[in-house]
Amino acid sequence: MTAAPLVPGPVTVRVPAKVNLELLVGPLRDDGFHTLATVYQAVGLYDDVTVAAADDWGVSVSGALADGVPTDASNLALRAARVLADRHAGAPAHVSIRKGIPVAGGMAGGSADAAATLVALDRLWDLGLDRDELEEVATELGSDVPFLVAGGTAMGSGRGELLAPVLARGTYHWVFALADGGLSTPEVYAECDRLRAGTSVPEPVATPALMAALRSGDPHELAAQLTNDLQPAAISLRPDLGATLEAGMEYGALGGIVSGSGPTLAFLVESNEAGIDLAVALTASGAVRDVRRASGPVPGAHVIHQRID
Ligand code: C5P
Repeated sequence: MTAAPLVPGPVTVRVPAKVNLELLVGPLRDDGFHTLATVYQAVGLYDDVTVAAADDWGVSVSGALADGVPTDASNLALRAARVLADRHAGAPAHVSIRKGIPVAGGMAGGSADAAATLVALDRLWDLGLDRDELEEVATELGSDVPFLVAGGTAMGSGRGELLAPVLARGTYHWVFALADGGLSTPEVYAECDRLRAGTSVPEPVATPALMAALRSGDPHELAAQLTNDLQPAAISLRPDLGATLEAGMEYGALGGIVSGSGPTLAFLVESNEAGIDLAVALTASGAVRDVRRASGPVPGAHVIHQRID
């Protein structure tokens, strides 16, 4: 009797969220994107993305944060699957996303799912792609998709997709305040342009003091360097964010910023214990819909399970 051939079964990839420690927004380019100088940190809020061979392409979303994620062809994970399939003649697959990253929250949840899908299909189809090729496909899908493949701490230039490593010591503890509803990234960039109309916007350059803070491993130093040029725009569209930022600082955060294009707020705290205290205080204040604690940096998209049928 001959054994049945091994068939690659479903592959599950875990992918983190990101926070921008510094997000400097330069001029609007001709292609509709802005030149950025940013420093990303991957933080331990995760989506788990499972891909499995199927008769047809499809995507499904589960988890407490699943509301608002499209399950049609506009889903970024499904788009990632189709792009990779076009390049490598991949067979149809179903993508199942278990959301632990806030949706439309400025933490790159959609980009994370796209990054995870690429890594998972690379394994399912046994493509053996190296990091460079994965990041190249990732660039087609969105400005911060390459970073979610890479993880850790990295500098992003261009429209955010050109990555360079950053030397970072230590582990940083964060409390994320989730808001009701999301913010549209293009709308926040457009509001940023509107607020800056008539001013001259320089080419952005990452701040040496932020790099020094990351080398020190001291959260107090990092807190003093947190910067987000999109913050005034996000607060202009969602004025309640300003009051919540103030509340977080009053309750003991070392620093607080709007995460990416918002509306999630990221508070840096001194320790895990300080994070618990801040999370309790913010929840009790009623100012936030929900809170999540996480630390960073953490690795990018990586396989956590593969079944062999
Ligand atoms: O690259 P991604 O699809 O995440 O970008 C979403 C939108 O955010 C873009 O269509 C653009 O409006 C805005 N954006 C930008 N400049 C960047 C990145 C994003 O204006 N560097």
